[in-house]
Amino acid sequence: MPKASPILNPTQESAQKLGIELDAIPAHVAVIMDGNGRWAKKKGFARLLGHREGYKALRGILLSASELGIKFLTVYAFSAENWRRPEDEVKGLMSLIERAARDELRLMHQNNVRVNVSGRIHELPQGLQRALNDGMETTKINTGITFTLAVNYGGRAEIVDAVKKLVAEGAKPEQISEQTITDHLYNPHHPDPDLMIRTAGEMRWSNFLIWQGAYCELYVTEKTWPEFSTPDLLDAVKTFQQRTRKFGAVVE
Ligand code: IPE
Ligand code: IPE
Ligand code: MG
Repeated sequence: MPKASPILNPTQESAQKLGIELDAIPAHVAVIMDGNGRWAKKKGFARLLGHREGYKALRGILLSASELGIKFLTVYAFSAENWRRPEDEVKGLMSLIERAARDELRLMHQNNVRVNVSGRIHELPQGLQRALNDGMETTKINTGITFTLAVNYGGRAEIVDAVKKLVAEGAKPEQISEQTITDHLYNPHHPDPDLMIRTAGEMRWSNFLIWQGAYCELYVTEKTWPEFSTPDLLDAVKTFQQRTRKFGAVVE
């Protein structure tokens, strides 16, 4: 008897129509959600409105990433360098992230999302730390997509923090290796990102996952983050599937 074809969810159906192979979805997708400010400027709005619109875009992308079968989605919400922005923007971002973390928790939990964070979380406002910790605690038994919010995250800071932990443990020079450094990163059990998406056209890394992303495939779109939606995610995944990853070797 022919094998019954599996029931696909709407995102998988759209993906299949585009020729995406559902059994070769990148396991870990990282996103530099850039261009909120430019989106707002284009519309004549304040920058903070752009960030609010960016939050709405993230809601949709988390759902479709989960439906598509991405196992890890890591998004850059606030960099260790973003403290250089005007005080009111920083404050606005902190309260937006806190509110979003609280408001979305029920829906994320219902969708079996496991919430996680990355960055120097202890330096964030207390209320935000509590919201993030509540999110992680509530969803820690979930088995669906692992959704990591990088807040006050810097790739160099993460490497410095890993080396500090190693030194504090009394590691000897011969114990320092790529593996032991990896083991001391913020999320040592996450696989390296396979695909890194950046919106708003900038051709740079801006200190995001610089250790883990050494061999990830880059996808840059001109669209700003608030304009980024499921078809764009599917385009990124399709582009990823057309790449040949070599990791330094010769691939015929
Ligand atoms: C990304 O959008 C969000 C954060 C960095 C918090 P930006 O605020 O950087 O938007 P642009 O780059 O000014 O357009
Ligand atoms: C990277 O975007 C950080 C986030 C998206 C949170 P930036 O807007 O801060 O990056 P630069 O300053 O253009 O490199
Ligand atoms: Mg920017």
